[in-house]
Amino acid sequence: MKTIAILGYGTVGSGVVEIIGNSNRRSGSGIDISGILVRNACKYKGHSHFKSVTENFKDVLTDDVDIVVEAIGGLHPAYDYVRRSLESKKHVVTANKDLIAEHGAELLEIAKSNGVELRFEASVGGGIPILKSVSDCLAGNSIESVTAILNGTTNFILTKMEEEEMQYDEALKLAQELGFAEADPSSDVLGLDAARKLSILSTLAFQRKLDWKEIETKGINAVDSSDFRYAGLNGCSIKLLAVSRLLADGVYASVSPVIVKKGSQLGRIRNEYNAILVEGDAVGDVLFTGKGAGMMPTASAVFADIADIMNNRKVKAETFDYDDAFVKTQWENEAKWMLRIRTGNRIGIMKDLTGRFSNCSILAGECGEHGDEVAAFVRAGSEAEIDCFEDSLSQEYDVRDFRKMMVLEQ
Ligand code: NAP
Ligand code: HSE
Repeated sequence: MKTIAILGYGTVGSGVVEIIGNSNRRSGSGIDISGILVRNACKYKGHSHFKSVTENFKDVLTDDVDIVVEAIGGLHPAYDYVRRSLESKKHVVTANKDLIAEHGAELLEIAKSNGVELRFEASVGGGIPILKSVSDCLAGNSIESVTAILNGTTNFILTKMEEEEMQYDEALKLAQELGFAEADPSSDVLGLDAARKLSILSTLAFQRKLDWKEIETKGINAVDSSDFRYAGLNGCSIKLLAVSRLLADGVYASVSPVIVKKGSQLGRIRNEYNAILVEGDAVGDVLFTGKGAGMMPTASAVFADIADIMNNRKVKAETFDYDDAFVKTQWENEAKWMLRIRTGNRIGIMKDLTGRFSNCSILAGECGEHGDEVAAFVRAGSEAEIDCFEDSLSQEYDVRDFRKMMVLEQ
């Protein structure tokens, strides 16, 4: 019999309680839930485990507890509770990417020095068993790249905007109601959540410590219906992609909206689903996909960590003790880009575009919501070339807005 304390009884915490109570599961018989920590116990009157609910952390960190599940979220008080649990020689399982991206290295060291485990499979990709796969199942590979949809909320919003012409605010509200979004959804829509997940995944994949704050991060808050229309003219859709590549002199890492072919492996991923395309030198491309957010998918990943601990199964995702990665934020290779330029001189900009890029297709019939836009697809040798072009245009013309979006051509 193992005794488990659960911190947080929201979307993830209640899913974990449900799986523990489910006799159909294939592993982990003999679990006792000793306590559930919440912020406001009154909310849980009538819940099956109401008698175990408390607002006091000391009530749940009792001597008999073997495993603490942290499903509160954010850094405070989660960091303090996880640290105190590890120091009290309790194993910890968490779904908290904010915590692991910020304090993972330190907490893993504390776990090690106390002879207990800190597990965080649910922190990346929701129900997709990605961390264990990258660390253990692909151990024979040098991982060369990760190209992924790592945030369920934003993929849900983009799907609803594209397929149902739903307004951004309405789609976000729905994602919140379904339990996909973070307590502060700006983490989702600004790309921060995906950047934190990319840093955890890439640290394990490349065995170089990636600071999530160094990742170039753009969210979906500026994506509009014209972006979808222009992408659609080329048979493409828009996804918030988290991309990292191992380079000879560092790691390229970015999170941004990217144009992808509709029928491609990533273009087909809809709603709250996530997908992670990993490229290894031995295995080639491997695609992992499944529900990246939501109660039961996330609880499934949390429970797998609990079962591993109960069965004494060790995994390799147990250290972030690697050298820091030198993070590069500019794409240095040739790529296709969509450019949208708002200006008082459309003719001049069009001339400059065709003069500068030999491979340039201007969406001639499109002039944007305000009638002052030039939209084009161009091929450039590097991102720096696009930025240089933007600088030169700004010096010559009245440029009201300049937007670039990369096109993934796989
Ligand atoms: P949630 O629904 O907002 O639940 C949070 C729970 O923590 C609530 O029960 C809340 O209590 C409790 N709590 C909050 N602050 C507290 C405090 N100061 N002291 C004690 N208890 C506190 O959040 P969630 O969606 O389950 O997310 C939990 C974690 O899992 C986050 O790290 C999130 O990023 C991660 N995660 C979520 C998903 C998902 O799909 N939702 C997927 C993967 C990972 P009250 O109910 O009393 O307010
Ligand atoms: N808010 C997160 C998402 C939850 O939408 O992906 C899963 O980590």
